Amino acid sequence: MTDKPLRAGIIGLGVGATHAKGYLRSPHTRLVALCDADTERLTARAAEYDIPTELCFTDYRTMLAKAQLDVVSVCLPNALHAEASIAALEAGAHVLCEKPLATTLEEALAMQRAAEANQRRLMVAYNFRYRADIAWIRQLMLEGKLGKVYNVYAWWRREAGIPPSGWFSQKQLSGGGALIDIGVHVLDMALWLLDFPRVETVSGQVSSHFGKRGMKISSSKLWKPSIDVEAFDVDDGAFGFLRCEGDLTIHLHASWAEQRAPREDVLHLELNGTDGTAMMHVVNYVQDGTVQFYTEVAGQPVAVVPKLRWDGIYGHEALIAESMAALVNNQPAPVEARHGVIGVQVIEALYRSSQTRREVVLE
Ligand SMILES: NC(=O)c1ccc[n+]([C@@H]2O[C@H](COP(=O)([O-])OP(=O)(O)OC[C@H]3O[C@@H](n4cnc5c(N)ncnc54)[C@H](O)[C@@H]3O)[C@@H](O)[C@H]2O)c1
Repeated sequence: MTDKPLRAGIIGLGVGATHAKGYLRSPHTRLVALCDADTERLTARAAEYDIPTELCFTDYRTMLAKAQLDVVSVCLPNALHAEASIAALEAGAHVLCEKPLATTLEEALAMQRAAEANQRRLMVAYNFRYRADIAWIRQLMLEGKLGKVYNVYAWWRREAGIPPSGWFSQKQLSGGGALIDIGVHVLDMALWLLDFPRVETVSGQVSSHFGKRGMKISSSKLWKPSIDVEAFDVDDGAFGFLRCEGDLTIHLHASWAEQRAPREDVLHLELNGTDGTAMMHVVNYVQDGTVQFYTEVAGQPVAVVPKLRWDGIYGHEALIAESMAALVNNQPAPVEARHGVIGVQVIEALYRSSQTRREVVLE
């Protein structure tokens, strides 16, 4: 264990702002440097976190050379994750990379190799693991309350949720649409709850019905869309069917856009086991009343609807708190590079399956 706080830097200051909150809160870190190509964003964030001008950069390689960082968050458009993470690892920093870890399996493996070669950690920002409902389901799993889980439904479906930042809908920068963006989150939740069973085959089908027509792009007063509809070349909906070891099946559904209740955003996880079913249904990101457990007691079906207590912090802040504590105490990272690699491998195979209209066998 080291006493000196780790010097943290962030590359990309969109969702990077939530990483900043995590580093500012953790007793193990000091947020010392920021990087964003957009000088307006950079200046605004620097003022907010009191970062001096000489530690604000528009070029991450200069930041890595000058700021003597111990840990770096990579919060750039997906296609830049690999090169920025590898540069940070080679500069001697641990990396917390946003999801998806990369846009291809080849890049993800290169990142993992760079971490090993430089004896640094590569961690992945799967922040949705840090919610009270999913933590409770994980506890049910650890206690074996579901028996043998044989099937999982994992969805994230939005009425009008095409991200407004233009790069999300350009394959060259994003690697794909709804499937790689939000599908990777629910896929990780399912695989993590199941302790990463081996995925043997996948079948996928992606579609694009809305974005190309300029429909269902999310926006707000603060967040004006910067999408070029002409350049929209990714999926806005996707289905996946995964066969895993032990005859376990996973049904995946990710959509940025659907005709459904206005502004509805639904995250749904359902694990069907021989002794119980755990169900999490989150509408518009609420935290309470989202989870149920069904089982049989004395020969009768019963529903357990807990009122969960959760005194701690959620999402990125909790992930960063735990990851940094693990780092300084030399404990295993809560989200390992391997988890990010598997996510990319499955998503890539689902895209391939959709393109070839064939089931894909994973190695
Ligand atoms: N874990 C989550 O829940 C979550 C939520 C949102 C986004 N993300 C992920 O975070 C990443 C970033 O997404 P976002 O929503 O913040 O996007 P964004 O477009 O809001 O922010 C990206 C930032 O990167 C900057 N940038 C782009 N290229 C750069 C470069 N070469 N050098 C320096 N800065 C550069 C841009 O100026 C922009 O400010 C993506 O991988 C996305 O999938 C994760």
